[in-house]
Parts: sequence; C-alpha cells; structure tokens
Amino acid sequence: MGMKVFYFTGTGNGLAIAKAIGGEAISIPQALKCGRTRYEDDAIGIVTPTYAGNPARIVVEFLNRVDLVAGYRFAVASYGGGMGNPLKPLVSAAARKGWRFDYTASVKMVDNYLPLFDADEERKVKDQAAIGVELKRIAGDVAARTRFLAHVGAGNALYGVVGRLAYNRIAGPEMVRKTFTVNDACVSCGICARSCPGGNITVEEGRHPVFGSSCLGCYGCAHICPHNAIHAKGEKSAARWRNPAVTVKELIAANDQR
Ligand SMILES: Cc1cc2nc3c(=O)[nH]c(=O)nc-3n(C[C@H](O)[C@H](O)[C@H](O)COP(=O)(O)O)c2cc1C
Repeated sequence: MGMKVFYFTGTGNGLAIAKAIGGEAISIPQALKCGRTRYEDDAIGIVTPTYAGNPARIVVEFLNRVDLVAGYRFAVASYGGGMGNPLKPLVSAAARKGWRFDYTASVKMVDNYLPLFDADEERKVKDQAAIGVELKRIAGDVAARTRFLAHVGAGNALYGVVGRLAYNRIAGPEMVRKTFTVNDACVSCGICARSCPGGNITVEEGRHPVFGSSCLGCYGCAHICPHNAIHAKGEKSAARWRNPAVTVKELIAANDQR
C-alpha cells in the first residue's frame, strides 16, 4: 500500500505536480482506457489542469467512473491566469459517489492557453523555483495527511459558473476545428497523434495531421510539435511550453491512445 496520484496533463504541469507529490503517478486517459473501476490505497490524489475555470472534463468523467477507496483523498488543480473554480466539480463528483476530499489545493503555473498567453513571457513571469517551493509545500501537506479545503472567493466562483457555460467553445471536442492550423513546417512525424489524450489526431505518411471530434482541449499537440507547425488561431506568439520536469517520452506515454 502507498499512494496513487491520478493526473491529466497536456503540457506536463500536471505530471510535474504528481511527481513532486510522490507515490505512483497514473495517467487518467490511460486508466480510463484500461477500464478498471476500483482503486484502493492508503492515499489517492487527483491532479487536473484548469480549462475555462473548470477541471478538465475527462477528470470529472474519471471520478464518475471509478471508486477510489483510501483513508486520505486529495485533489490539486493547476491553473495559469484566472483560476475560476476547478476544484468544485471534483468535490461535487466525489459527493455524488458518497465521499469527500480531505485536502484540495491549486497551484499557479505556466499558462498554456495560446490565444491569451505568450509561453516565453509566461516562462519569465512564472518563477519555476517559487513553483517548486509551492509544490514542496503541497507534497508536505499530503505526506502529513493535512486536512484542508482550499477557499474559493466569490469572483473565482462566478468565473467557474460562467466558464462552465463557455467550456465547450474553449476546450470542447469541436473547438479544435476553429482553433488549430498546421503549416508547411509539418514533416508528418506523428508526435502530435502519439501525444493526443483524446486519440483525436491521425497522421498519414507525408500528410498533415487530421483532427477528429474528440479533442480534450489540452493544447498539447501545438506545444509538443517539434517543428512548431501547429498554431492556434490568434495565438499570442509561436513560443511553446513543456514543463521542464517532464519529457516528451513521458507525455506520449501518458496520453497515447493508439
Ligand atoms: C483550453 C484551455 C483553457 C484554459 N483555461 C484556463 C482558465 O480558465 N484559467 C486558468 O487559470 N488557466 C487556464 N488554462 C491554463 C492551464 O490550466 C494551465 O496552463 C495548466 O497548468 C496546464 O496544465 P498541463 O501542463 O498539465 O496541461 C487553460 C488552458 C487551456 C489549454
């Protein structure tokens, strides 16, 4: 027995959190794919990014699908700019299953939402050493089995409600068609397809990637492309982000659905 940390990540922030907390890091897309419906351990954690002030939908789906049996259960949301209320739908999903989180926290990291944030600027303003200290604090809380639920102010709560209404347009399955373009720098390497947690990208030899309608909104494809060939409409810059604590190989292992 020990600790399991279930995470979802597009650009590595979520896996960096799981690694910092320790225990066994388990990818939520892969856990859903394997179909197991019950996990038991001393401690179990959930890590999600924030999309439109809410948790990634696949994380809520995972909580709805599985029974998590543990003496200590926690959730951590990463976010970049305006947090919203990403923990609330996780708390509600747990309540529907008849249990409560013992600990929740949110941590501000590099914002990977290309239409609003320049990744190079983000690198400058988000001090990785300070984020590391924050992650250590959370890891310490979890190790000490601290019971504490993060407080959410009225403004963030409101953003969470409004964001839920806008979620589909920002991170929903059809968003990809209006958002991403592929330019001629593409060499059909297929890394986008291999790292897509929605299994939403196919690349045939010598052709550009084709996007389907199961996008999870993570922006991972645009950030991971080694040729910088995938661009979001109206993006702030062509700069891209991958959390330095996470390798391309790890992102592929976490998200490959083929
Ligand atoms: C489609 C999309 C929507 C986002 N919406 C928000 C948001 O509403 N508020 C926020 O603070 N960050 C938002 N972000 C930023 C991510 O939550 C943040 O960069 C997160 O740490 C990414 O985690 P990952 O590297 O594990 O994928 C958004 C990112 C994407 C791709």
